[in-house]
Amino acid sequence: MTTKIPNHVAVIMDGNGRWALARGKKRLAGHRAGVDALERMLGWCRDAGVKILTVYAFSTENWRRPAEEVNGLMKLFSTFIRLKTRKLMREGVRFRVIGRRSDLPPALAASIARVEEKTASFEQQLVLAVSYGGRAEIVDAARKLVAEAAAGQIRPEDVDEALVGNRLYAPDLPDPDLIIRTSGEQRISNFLLWECAYSEFYFTDTLWPDFSREDFDAALAAYATRDRRKGGHA
Ligand code: IPE
Ligand code: IPE
Ligand code: MG
Repeated sequence: MTTKIPNHVAVIMDGNGRWALARGKKRLAGHRAGVDALERMLGWCRDAGVKILTVYAFSTENWRRPAEEVNGLMKLFSTFIRLKTRKLMREGVRFRVIGRRSDLPPALAASIARVEEKTASFEQQLVLAVSYGGRAEIVDAARKLVAEAAAGQIRPEDVDEALVGNRLYAPDLPDPDLIIRTSGEQRISNFLLWECAYSEFYFTDTLWPDFSREDFDAALAAYATRDRRKGGHA
């Protein structure tokens, strides 16, 4: 058993397409298997005492994919919400979304807002990053700051890390302690750029739909050995 457990785990759920292709299936079948993997992961997080799970489901760059895949993914998000809201409420999971909501189909954006409201009081959290880009998030924060400055509410010397951080999509969320990326890629792909400043990283070759309890335990074990100096020293 590991002793040091991360409070907030973020996952770049990558490899759904390759998982499907390897089975002669359509990419969308891989995304569906990815949703099942996410549900399993949510349970393991609860078991392990991880309070917040943030998952990268769709990036600002993913809009460039073929319409069939994009539309299929939007449908998958809607279905997930429709079918899982009750389960989230029963299990006491707060659901929220980070990303550019105005990019989403209006019906999806509306159902997201409804689940967020219904589950707002729960402590365990599932944060879905949809139409999310780390740069877009910082740009959106900058827009808010400029608007406030133009209205005479803030001066240049008022701007500090807390002021910027408070204008991100979910300002109350602590930074992720551990970021896991599956599928063998070792890059951030525009995920949580501001928030990952002192996150620990864990990479695995496992494709997201195959991500297992053993993979998660290995990530937690690796995390437990890390010395998070954060610029200081022992
Ligand atoms: C991750 O799987 C999910 C999304 C980006 C929506 P991919 O669809 O990127 O799968 P690969 O990387 O092509 O295998
Ligand atoms: C990152 O995966 C985004 C998500 C997992 C949602 P991508 O598959 O889009 O990233 P790249 O293209 O390999 O960098
Ligand atoms: Mg990918």
